[in-house]
Amino acid sequence: MDTKKVYIESYGCQMNFSDSEIVASILAKEGYEPVTSVDGADLVLLNTCSIRDKAEQTVLNRIDGLNHLKVKHPAMKVGVLGCMAERMREELIERKHLVDLVVGPDAYRSLPELLEDLGSGQKAVNVLLSRDETYADIERVRLGSNGVSAFITIMRGCDNMCAFCVVPFTRGRERSRDPKTIVEEARKLFQDGIREVTLLGQNVDSYRWNVDSRGNVKDTNEAVVDFADLLGLVADVSPQLRVRFSTSHPKDMTDKVLRTMAARPNICKYIHLPVQSGSSEVLQRMNRGYDRAWYKERIDAIRRHMPDCAISTDIIAGFCGESEDDHRSTLGLMDEVRYDMAYMFKYSERPKTLAARKYPDDVPEVDKGRRLQEIIDLQMQHAGERNQRHVGQVQEVLIEGTSKRSQDHLFGRNTYNAVVIVPRFQGAEELKPGQYIQARIISATSGSLQGDPVGIGMEPARRSPEPVSI
Ligand code: 5AD
Ligand code: SF4
Repeated sequence: MDTKKVYIESYGCQMNFSDSEIVASILAKEGYEPVTSVDGADLVLLNTCSIRDKAEQTVLNRIDGLNHLKVKHPAMKVGVLGCMAERMREELIERKHLVDLVVGPDAYRSLPELLEDLGSGQKAVNVLLSRDETYADIERVRLGSNGVSAFITIMRGCDNMCAFCVVPFTRGRERSRDPKTIVEEARKLFQDGIREVTLLGQNVDSYRWNVDSRGNVKDTNEAVVDFADLLGLVADVSPQLRVRFSTSHPKDMTDKVLRTMAARPNICKYIHLPVQSGSSEVLQRMNRGYDRAWYKERIDAIRRHMPDCAISTDIIAGFCGESEDDHRSTLGLMDEVRYDMAYMFKYSERPKTLAARKYPDDVPEVDKGRRLQEIIDLQMQHAGERNQRHVGQVQEVLIEGTSKRSQDHLFGRNTYNAVVIVPRFQGAEELKPGQYIQARIISATSGSLQGDPVGIGMEPARRSPEPVSI
């Protein structure tokens, strides 16, 4: 078989990067080899994001920027995958003469036929969403892997209908992946040297296997597995395998998940719990399913079970109808919680969403910008303060690679997901990616920690409870 070259560029969330690995795997069977540069590629795929207008504009500009390559290589095909393919299929096909192929997130299995159609000179499109596609059986080709950490998709889609969010429209209904295939993937990754997996879903807390949409058991020979069970099963693969997950939802995060985390040293003590706003009124308009008090109670629950757990969040500034008082409630909540990290955004109206249909996008741009800046400034201060708490501690760090700033240093992460920079050598010994070390934290900024290696290997006495069978 002739090998052809495919170049895949991914935008947006981790789920998209993970989907690109599914696409690479499907294309490998068709004789496509992934390459890391667009030059000389036979097929260029952009796996795209629609979450905010800016994300879409970046991709539209990128498509225009590919024009000169197409002039040089007329046989080169350009495809748009992912959320923009779903949301903007007509515009992409009609306006962008450069785009040959448009494929939505649930249609990647049809890529071989679509590529065949392309061969006959047509444009090829499949944006059908599915109720059950999880690509469970597809063995991922790892793209851009650091050899240490990997993502595992555990579910797809989202049923939540937050008023601001385009995801339910681009990624369809929520569905969970068979836990056996998840555990198997984790096991294979571990055998290949991976030491940290992140379980991915838009709302991991609603992971549920073997129940139908009414909550009835589907197959009495199989166990019902919820997210806490799944975490335990993946953690059982090896005490040497770190387990992370993203994203949790405040309305669904259970104490059972927190107990499972607390009981397992290899489940990282870090939770990403998007709040979006600190004002109960705004939360109600956002259709988030919780109010400020409920959210605060979930934070308290995390701290009860794991007093040292790191917590991060997402915040949107300037959602429809947000007043100065609402904004101050957000700042106030940040002061109460003190997030280790946050992703912060200006509200961007997305077509078709509940907010776009129901509420005017009425916070003036200058106010959105100023509020966002106030949120960012406060978060920087909190992150700096929170990082100081590590100083003086000896922490386990999983080494990931060479520091961006210096060849003489490596970087890794502690359980709290904070980046720790350490010297490459401990005495005469050179540290290696994939290795666990013990490092004394000697200083901290809002972005990273400096560590001094004091030992190699995991903490002694690391044991996991007996494996659960499924
Ligand atoms: N505008 C701004 N931010 C958004 N997010 C989702 N939709 C929008 C939007 N329309 C943010 C939310 C979400 C994160 C992934 O992106 O904070 O948690
Ligand atoms: Fe972007 Fe959301 Fe699609 Fe991920 S799921 S690519 S964040 S729109």
